[in-house]
Amino acid sequence: MGVITGTGSYAPARIMTNDEFAAYLETSDAWIRERTGIRERRIAAPEEATSDLAVSAGLKALESAGLEAVSLDGILLATATPDLLFPSTACLVQARLGADKAFAFDLNAVCSGFVYAMSVAKSMIESRAARRLLVIGSEVMSRALDWSDRGTCILFGDGAGAVVVEASEAASKGLETFRLRADGRYWDMIHVPGGGSRRSGEESSPFIRMKGGETFKMAVRSLQESVMEVLSSSGVSPSEIDLLVPHQANIRIIDALATRLGLPPEKVMVNIDRYGNTSAASVPVALDEAVRSGRISEGSRVLLTAFGAGVTWGSGLLTWEAETQKRSRS
Ligand code: COA
Repeated sequence: MGVITGTGSYAPARIMTNDEFAAYLETSDAWIRERTGIRERRIAAPEEATSDLAVSAGLKALESAGLEAVSLDGILLATATPDLLFPSTACLVQARLGADKAFAFDLNAVCSGFVYAMSVAKSMIESRAARRLLVIGSEVMSRALDWSDRGTCILFGDGAGAVVVEASEAASKGLETFRLRADGRYWDMIHVPGGGSRRSGEESSPFIRMKGGETFKMAVRSLQESVMEVLSSSGVSPSEIDLLVPHQANIRIIDALATRLGLPPEKVMVNIDRYGNTSAASVPVALDEAVRSGRISEGSRVLLTAFGAGVTWGSGLLTWEAETQKRSRS
């Protein structure tokens, strides 16, 4: 059984408020807050890249697990904004952490990346391919934004979150059921045209293009279906969930999902007001904040869910048994 034994996150120091957009774009703090739930977001410093954020979050996760990087078997890094086209950002992180015995690879499912990576981590642990993994979601979305497009630039922010996943004989529960989905027919719903190998046709802009309204509707529908699939295959009802940790894309998407599941606000983790949409970092940052603020404790039943470009989506059910595993280690 795979168990999360540590969490960590990192947010760049620079806070960008809605009023800063209103100073040069036809928008307002009120519009952004009402339509998205976002009050501010973090923006990476010019010298900061995705690997820098990932290293900071990773170190905090290792510290909370009480482990050294050299004891890791592998690093899985979910990102859509890598430092370089190649090598992978995970390899840069592996070197910086001194995780000398670890394999390392990136995984790109955009905003669903962390949920995808956790599902892969669970499978690697269960198949005994690894016993100790660092799973990171890290993004510098600000480098992929057209700052003159008010429909996208106000939505995204930068950040990183990480968890340590370990194999456990002691814990009776942990990473339980994960379900992943994709539908590439909708590839152009949210995409970045430039920067890859396709040169013909569309202009090669390196910035996000998004069909906001269509994305919104599909996200609500897909998240609900995905959550229900995970719950029904686990024999768990929505009322048995202690905390839903959803991808933070729009407060109205989160509220619609919570209403459909019948979950009260105290069972839903929300931090979009402070970070905006940090893509693959969004779920692990929210998870780390939930753990550190005591909203998740030993035995809590937690549901992760995310939707993103691809389009991709997925959910995962877990029971928090960090302390059981840490005790059995010492
Ligand atoms: N400030 C003011 N007005 C804005 C605006 C902004 N920042 N962004 C868009 N508008 C305008 C639109 O231009 C449109 O004006 P028009 O009617 O004159 O054409 C109007 O607001 C309504 O646009 P609409 O797209 O219907 O707004 P919305 O309520 O759907 O909100 C989003 C737009 C982008 C916030 C919303 O669609 C959304 O969050 N979609 C999901 C995005 C997402 O989750 N993406 C990532 C998935 S991982």
